[in-house]
Amino acid sequence: MNIKWVGAKKTVYDALGGSRWFEELVEHFYENVEKDQRIRHLYPDDLTLPKKNTSDFLIQYWGGPSTYSDRRGHPRLRMRHAPFQIGQEERNAWMESMTSALETMHPPTEIMEAMLEYFDMAATHMVNTEI
Ligand code: HEM
Repeated sequence: MNIKWVGAKKTVYDALGGSRWFEELVEHFYENVEKDQRIRHLYPDDLTLPKKNTSDFLIQYWGGPSTYSDRRGHPRLRMRHAPFQIGQEERNAWMESMTSALETMHPPTEIMEAMLEYFDMAATHMVNTEI
């Protein structure tokens, strides 16, 4: 069974009650990023757009409306991250900010596990620098 689905017709998006949950997760994530000198400098000063892009993407990925692709086209995440130097340190910092945000949101265990697995894999995929 695809990890985006938790039951016969229910997506993870539905199980979590919709967009608000993802917007809150992303708020917590960027609060953590703001405090992390390993990666804060990679992001623009104003985090409004990164917040919107990230939550729209996650909503779409986990089975909600396709607002992200309607606005931005195909995600092509690795390509979109090419302008930023992402090595192991940046990857780990990103993952720590997301793990801590997820812990704050405290989703049901199987969703927590699926999300951690996805983020771990996707963050590794974004590494584009050997330093
Ligand atoms: C699970 C892994 C990741 C996911 C799902 C993810 C997701 C995203 C998304 C959806 C965007 C907006 C792209 C757009 O529409 O233009 C974005 C932007 C960005 N990401 Fe990631 N990302 C991941 C890993 C990382 C890592 C490891 C870093 C390194 C610190 C990083 C740094 C950035 C930066 C600097 C931006 C630009 C902010 C902006 O202007 O939107 N990302 N990411």
